[in-house]
Amino acid sequence: MSTPTATHLIALLAHSRGFLNDVTLHDTDYANAVLVHGRFDFESYTENLFDKLALRCPASLSTALPIRRAEFLAGRAMARAALLALGQAAPEIPIGPDGAPLWPRYSAGSITHARGHSACFAIADGSWHAGVDVEALASGHALESILCMTTNAAERALIARQTALPPARLATLLFSAKETLFKALYPLARRFFGFDCAELRTGPANGRLRLHLTQALCRELPEHEPYDIRFNIAEDYVFTWLAVRRLQDESVQPGQSIRHSASFFNSAEPTA
Ligand SMILES: CC(C)(COP(=O)(O)OP(=O)(O)OC[C@H]1O[C@@H](n2cnc3c(N)ncnc32)[C@H](O)[C@@H]1OP(=O)(O)O)[C@@H](O)C(=O)NCCC(=O)NCCS
Repeated sequence: MSTPTATHLIALLAHSRGFLNDVTLHDTDYANAVLVHGRFDFESYTENLFDKLALRCPASLSTALPIRRAEFLAGRAMARAALLALGQAAPEIPIGPDGAPLWPRYSAGSITHARGHSACFAIADGSWHAGVDVEALASGHALESILCMTTNAAERALIARQTALPPARLATLLFSAKETLFKALYPLARRFFGFDCAELRTGPANGRLRLHLTQALCRELPEHEPYDIRFNIAEDYVFTWLAVRRLQDESVQPGQSIRHSASFFNSAEPTA
């Protein structure tokens, strides 16, 4: 870890007064990229933490529940740490009109927060789209819901017969991987697409879960296209991440709409 990054993380933890804990940087398998993960404690959240951490709470969240502002703050704190770790400037990252974060032009990133976890996957290169998701390991009713609402019969059969991971872990991982895929492809698809739009056809291997599109999402995202989602499994949670190349002539400015082009660089593989 570079000294400025370490200094920033120490200051972040100190200023958060117990709200942020266990902030760690992870290798991502992509060049010029970092994944920052941390825990946040809602019991330690106070509204003035935005000032303490020098982050702005958007007006749209002024009437939201405090837990939503706490999640937002934790996510933006991870984003700032990620950009600084990449040696980049770290301006505010507003919420876009469709809910996706508006990233600075010279970088790409994605944010997630769930059950006291928050993470940001950021790339110091604006020619990518990024997706990241963190999920607490599911069990009981939560696991049943995941299996019922986010997997098809073939995926459930695969989860039951494969031996690489305990079924609950793979089911949680698959759910997370689909959310990560959604975030990474949303800027290209420009529309909502559900859990039936991608499918797991083989078990996980080498820290990757391969999802195939089950239908074309747009001209540049054809049926059967594979995406290798990276993952990490901890004792009680999993996280997944993916980077996908922007379209060749996609000109994206924060707040601008996205044009689609016939030439699309799919890149399930990074140019590391
Ligand atoms: C949008 C969605 C993926 C967010 O996931 P989630 O588990 O609810 O919440 P997470 O904490 O992981 O992510 C929330 C963050 O996602 C980001 N986000 C929201 N909408 C987004 C979008 N359309 N594209 C990319 N990122 C988005 C935001 O940064 C948000 O945090 P913020 O509001 O604090 O900035 C989810 O709510 C959803 O709609 N899922 C159904 C679609 C899907 O996953 N399909 C599967 C396709 S195979």
